[in-house]
Amino acid sequence: MAATPDSGFTPTRDDRFSFGLWTVGWQGVDVFGTAIRPAMAPADAIRRLSDLGAYGITFHDNDVFPFDADTVAKEAHLAPLRAALEETGLVVPMVTTNLFSHPVFRDGGFTNNDRDVRRFALRKVLDNIDLAAELGARVFVAWGGREGAESGAAKDVKAALDRYAEAFNLLGAYVLEQGYDLRFAIEPKPNEPRGDILLPTVGHALAFINELDHPELVGLNPEVGHEEMASLNYAHGLAQALWHGKLFHIDLNGQHGPRYDQDLRFGAGNARGAFWTVDIVENGGYDGPRHFDYKPPRTEDLDGVWVSAEACMRNYLILRAKVRAFRADPEVQQALVDARVDQLGVPTVAPGETLADLRAESFDPEVAARRGMGFERLDQLALEHLYGVRG
Ligand code: GCO
Ligand code: MN
Ligand code: MN
Repeated sequence: MAATPDSGFTPTRDDRFSFGLWTVGWQGVDVFGTAIRPAMAPADAIRRLSDLGAYGITFHDNDVFPFDADTVAKEAHLAPLRAALEETGLVVPMVTTNLFSHPVFRDGGFTNNDRDVRRFALRKVLDNIDLAAELGARVFVAWGGREGAESGAAKDVKAALDRYAEAFNLLGAYVLEQGYDLRFAIEPKPNEPRGDILLPTVGHALAFINELDHPELVGLNPEVGHEEMASLNYAHGLAQALWHGKLFHIDLNGQHGPRYDQDLRFGAGNARGAFWTVDIVENGGYDGPRHFDYKPPRTEDLDGVWVSAEACMRNYLILRAKVRAFRADPEVQQALVDARVDQLGVPTVAPGETLADLRAESFDPEVAARRGMGFERLDQLALEHLYGVRG
């Protein structure tokens, strides 16, 4: 652990922190109120994030150029972004498409009942894939915020899943044909803005991916708040995505349990969940960007925006130090053995052993049933590291 509260928690590019332009650039428009902050030019956001220690930025097409921009207007908006990237050395590891803001997407993009809108959505995404590849992005996020319904008969869910799969099949074939080094990451969310969103959780999305023509091209971008809105354990979701080889990207933020999507800065909200999130991100085999998708609350002016952006990275580094201290603590290592965590890594039936051998074994369940698992001691050690009284 750091000797003083301020040492060791300053981000560097090696930490690979990235931010969506729509995060620090959020003007605070919500269901109940208008904008409370001025528009932020992407190039200004890039320079400030670079100064704060981030290594990359991500964006939706319409975070950079307007919905109705033609080729010339697009390039006029992209030029300052390219210049700021060049000047700062920041990279664009991920790009995503806005298929939710314009009224035409009121019933979604890829799964809109209106075939013309679905065809328009595909054209919009194809254009944005070309841009993503040109900027060197390796991940293309697909958050289907408006793919869903508020009512029953209006959405034929099986047909909608056919169209959803059709979209990923077409886009995957396009990426292969172009030879782009780009993979798709589906971002699940249970609800908001739709009453029910399709592919609502990590598990739903994993099963869906298996039905695609090119499942190897499609993985996940799980977000802390979205899994917690569904009362699910985010760290467990990441672990399962890793187990399937599908953790292509992550959206880190904070959430207080099952309520509206709070998009708090990372480390706010469920702090214990954030500790286990950092543990699995650092130790579970994920090697992508540590990407923040949060919204600086409407209470904040621009100074508050930068305080919250810095805090996302700082909280990650604080938790990383705590996780490292936890894993290195000899008492924790003993408690892990006492909790028989190592035994779970051993196959239940040994190589060469037969089921007949297994059935012939004598075992006294009454004796085994008396053995406690020691999990409370282990978890208390974790909490004491998190609370700052160990390490
Ligand atoms: C949300 C979502 C979005 C998406 C982003 C990428 O908060 O509901 O996280 O922010 O991640 O729009 O498409
Ligand atoms: Mn969210
Ligand atoms: Mn997100």
